[in-house]
Order: sequence, then C-alpha cells, then structure tokens
Amino acid sequence: MPMEKAQRMDSTKHRFFAPCPRGLEQVLDNELRALGIPATTAMAGGVGFQAPWATMYWVNLWSHIASRVLWEAGHRAYRTEEDIYRAAHDLPWPEWFLSSNSIKVRVTAHRCPLPSLDFLTLRIKDAICDKFVSATGKRPAVDTRHPDIRIDAFLDSKSVTLYLDTSGEPLFKRGHRITTVEAPLRENLAAGLLRLAGWTPDEVLMDPMCGTGTIPLEAALMARKIAPGLARSFAFERFRLHDAKRWAQLREAARLKQRKESPAAIYASDRDAEAIKIAQRLFQGAGVAIDIRLQQKEILSLEPPAPKGLLMINPPYGVRIGDPDELESFYPRLGDWLKQKFAGWRAFVLTADPRLRDTIGLSPSRRIPLYNGALECRLYEFRMVQGGARRKLGQDSVRAK
Ligand SMILES: C[S@@+](CC[C@H](N)C(=O)[O-])C[C@H]1O[C@@H](n2cnc3c(N)ncnc32)[C@H](O)[C@@H]1O
Repeated sequence: MPMEKAQRMDSTKHRFFAPCPRGLEQVLDNELRALGIPATTAMAGGVGFQAPWATMYWVNLWSHIASRVLWEAGHRAYRTEEDIYRAAHDLPWPEWFLSSNSIKVRVTAHRCPLPSLDFLTLRIKDAICDKFVSATGKRPAVDTRHPDIRIDAFLDSKSVTLYLDTSGEPLFKRGHRITTVEAPLRENLAAGLLRLAGWTPDEVLMDPMCGTGTIPLEAALMARKIAPGLARSFAFERFRLHDAKRWAQLREAARLKQRKESPAAIYASDRDAEAIKIAQRLFQGAGVAIDIRLQQKEILSLEPPAPKGLLMINPPYGVRIGDPDELESFYPRLGDWLKQKFAGWRAFVLTADPRLRDTIGLSPSRRIPLYNGALECRLYEFRMVQGGARRKLGQDSVRAK
C-alpha cells in the first residue's frame, strides 16, 4: 500500500467491535482501557471502540479476552432485502482485499423483521461478488471452512452493520494447541476467569484439575507478558490496507516486553496422564514450561504449596464429562479439602452443575454467570479464612478448620 494511504488510515479513527464470551464484557472493557484505548463501550456480547487502524493490530496481538476484532465497514438503515444488498454493494470491497481471496459471509440478527437470514447471507455475498466483477472482472470464491476473509453482518430491527473481520481464526486460537481432549476451556474464557478473580502474576496460582492446561497457560502468558497473538497469523495480513512495516514493529515491541520468568509459581495438576502429556507439550510449545509446575495427581491428595494463593478449579461437568453420581459425592469432599487445607486461599470453581452449590458445604462470596460456548456456567468464589465463618461487607467468608 502507498505510504500516504497507510498514514491516512492511521490518523483516522475507525470503529471496531470486539466480541467476547458472554459474561466477560466488563473484563474486556478493562483490558482494552489498559491497552490504552480511551473510548470503549461495553455492550452485550462485546466491546465497541474507536481508534486508529494500528490499534486494531495491537488489540489482536494483546487481547486475552476478545474472540475477534471486527472493523466496521458500513452502517445503514434498511427495510427490505434489496436495501441490504445495496448497503453491501455500495462499499468499496475491492479496495480492501483481492478477488483471489476466498470469502465467507456470516449474518447475525436481533429482532430483524426479514424472514430468512440464509437469504440475506446469500444477497450480501452476491453484492460483494457483483462489486468485484464490475471493478475487476473477477469474483472471489466462497470458502465456508477456511476463508481468507470473513465478512460479518449484524442486523437489528432497523439497521445493518457490515464488518470486516480483522482476526480471521478466532483469537482464542493462540497457535499453541496441537491436539486436544474432551472439554478444554476456550483460552479467552480461561483468561477471563483469571481476570474476574482479580489474579495478578505475583500471586501463587494453582489449578488442580488442569486438564490440558488452558488456565495455567493463559496465566503464564500474562505473567511473562507474552502477547497471546504472537504465535499466530491474522486476516488483516491479507488486507490491501495492511501496513506490514508497522505490524513488524508492533510484534518486535511485544517481544521486547517479555519477562524471563513468572514472578510467582504456577501449579497445575490433573489425575489424567494423557491430559498431563498434552499440557506438557502445550507449555513447551508456548515456551512457558519453566513457569508451570506440572504433575499428575489426584486433587484431594494435594497439599497447598504456599500459605496463600488462588485456586482455580474447573471440575468435569455432568453434561459433558464426568459421572453424575461420582460428581455428587465428590463436591462435599472438595469442600472439606478446601476447609481443612486451604485457609488463607481464595478458591474459584467454574461449573455448569447446579448441584455443586448445595453440596460443597461452603457459601460463596461471589457467583458470576458465564458461558462456556453455549453452556451456562457459574464461577463461584470461596474465601477460605482461618477461624469462624464471618460475614463482612455483605460477603460470606468460609470457616477453615
Ligand atoms: C473440565 S476438565 C478441565 C479442563 C481444563 N480446564 C482445560 O481447559 O483443559 C476437568 C478435569 O478434571 C480432571 N479430574 C477429574 N477428577 C479429578 C480428580 N479427582 N483429581 C484430579 N483431576 C481430576 C479430569 O481429568 C479433567 O481433565
């Protein structure tokens, strides 16, 4: 791209929307502000912000919480399918990407009065292809599985917003995971749990049901200041407006920020040997194996590695994995283990199982609704204190024997 155009792109403020797992909007908003973006608006399902073009690179590179970063290409009132076609056709798509790039259009709607979202998807795709044919004589191919360019349309009852997805593959794909087993958390949800818990890298962290290690990996990336997007590629690298020099500078600046080691220990364990092997490979691939003390161990046989710290526990859910009867008898034993051994610690438990709350024998000081994909979960906080059960400032504390 000619440099003047790159600079023009950079001084202009663009509108972006960063979707995230439901329940993490506020932590994403905090994260974006911490990344230096002043004008952010948290709303259901994500955070909108206005910023120069290069800020979008920065957010893709550094956000632990966002699922994607969408650039707002156009916004228009509509009444009919033809209005939607026109809204898409009027945008200069050939200035933004090449006809040799494959595309995919996704439509989501809230209170849209038009009958078929599939038909709208088709019309938007037609509008983009028609625009390319009139400008270049060639049309982009559609690839619904691995498109080069994703176009998102969001419709409410009166207006349509068209977005170019700057991320490509969703941002929770950090580029480290090689194989997977059942029920790993998405990386951005794992990071969100740590942020909701108020964990900071100088606090000892323990994940005693770590599975393939998603939570400790996110913690280690945060602790070492390793940008979560450093090991992957992004859709914006294919945009005609891409400023490769600026992108290289931002990546280099990110590399220079890395710490050599995590300030406090991160402990991870699971009883499953296969999960531990996968976690080990994941940590090695991400360059954080030295930061995480990993072992194969039954949770209830573990001792606290420090007088205080933060436990983040993600037990199997009855719906997906785990025998429901075994789980029901496990919860009170988990509660006893916490009471007997973890005075001084804060314990967080993420579960989709409503029985945990009534059977764990501890009263939560917080319960935060969250979604793991479509699965509704709760993140419970239990503050384990020495001595009697105390109530202060409306928060329950839990007796530790
Ligand atoms: C929902 S998965 C955790 C997924 C993990 N957060 C991830 O992202 O990969 C629950 C894990 O608990 C482990 N687990 C179940 N019972 C256990 C026990 N008694 N002691 C230790 N680990 C156990 C399972 O092996 C499984 O890996």
